[in-house]
Amino acid sequence: MKSNYHYSVMLNESIDGLNIKENGIYVDCTLGRGGHASKILSQLKTGLLIGIDQDQEAIDYSKELLSSISSNYKVVKNNFRNIDKILEELNINKIDGAIYDLGVSSPQFDEDYRGFSYKFDSSLDMRMDQNNPLTAKYIVNNYSLNDLVRIFKEYGEEKYSYSIAKNIVEQRKSKEICTTFDLVEIIKKSKPTKELNKKGHPAKQIFQALRIEVNDELNALEDSLNKILKLLNVGGRLVVISFHSLEDRIVKNIFKENSVVEGNRVNEIIDPKNIKQANYRSINKKVIFPSDKELEENSRSKSAKLRILERLR
Ligand SMILES: C[S@@+](CC[C@H](N)C(=O)[O-])C[C@H]1O[C@@H](n2cnc3c(N)ncnc32)[C@H](O)[C@@H]1O
Repeated sequence: MKSNYHYSVMLNESIDGLNIKENGIYVDCTLGRGGHASKILSQLKTGLLIGIDQDQEAIDYSKELLSSISSNYKVVKNNFRNIDKILEELNINKIDGAIYDLGVSSPQFDEDYRGFSYKFDSSLDMRMDQNNPLTAKYIVNNYSLNDLVRIFKEYGEEKYSYSIAKNIVEQRKSKEICTTFDLVEIIKKSKPTKELNKKGHPAKQIFQALRIEVNDELNALEDSLNKILKLLNVGGRLVVISFHSLEDRIVKNIFKENSVVEGNRVNEIIDPKNIKQANYRSINKKVIFPSDKELEENSRSKSAKLRILERLR
């Protein structure tokens, strides 16, 4: 059954992090079911909210939700890696803030026909953008052994990458691998019993790897963050919620390259001239994690990390 329920992760912390001005221009790059976007929109008087998502279902749902709050919004179906072009088309040169709440939404994960979850038997799809020609099914049935091993290692950090990839290549010689459960079976067959008895689903990392490859998630994130930094007004904020170490590493590195982190030991040994040259500063000295209350309410918040950056000059 189709579900539109999505718990918006670190909602208050992230929206506070945007430091919203009621006449500002804000971009929600990952609109989803509009939880963060609604909260931004409700704080704007003469400002504008731009909501972006590559998933048509997210766009349709959020449009309706936002229209019940105010008319100060525009919704765009596109990949956030095209943020420069999206804003150019809207005749917007600079923005006062942007938020990324990365990864898959609960509806994408919970709708069996999207193929993101190892919990449902469905076609191996995993596309966030329904027009993307690349599916997980194509990858497992066509990528070479080496490429499968590479993505499983790089994007899944899966210890048994080679054995799983080898069994995929073997299996597809006799029968196409079509469903999530076909793949789960192969993964289970490729791991020793002691691994299967460990906590957590044995297919979790391979499903993560395929999802990242299908949606080119890490490259899109890096491209988009580098572009959006240049689009921020002075005083503008960039807020990012990441869900796994590969995403967080990209966010952390881009933030570090561009910012002065106030009050830590690193600053004490940096030449003051260099400190002056930084155009951004990290608002949170340490990464922000969900509260205990949120963790009780929503198990999917468990791996979330929030980082906030501000443009200084
Ligand atoms: C975790 S959900 C966001 C949930 C939202 N903050 C809320 O409160 O409802 C992430 C959303 O980002 C979208 N998304 C992920 N990567 C994207 C990209 N590169 N371009 C556009 N949308 C993307 C997904 O389709 C999904 O709907």
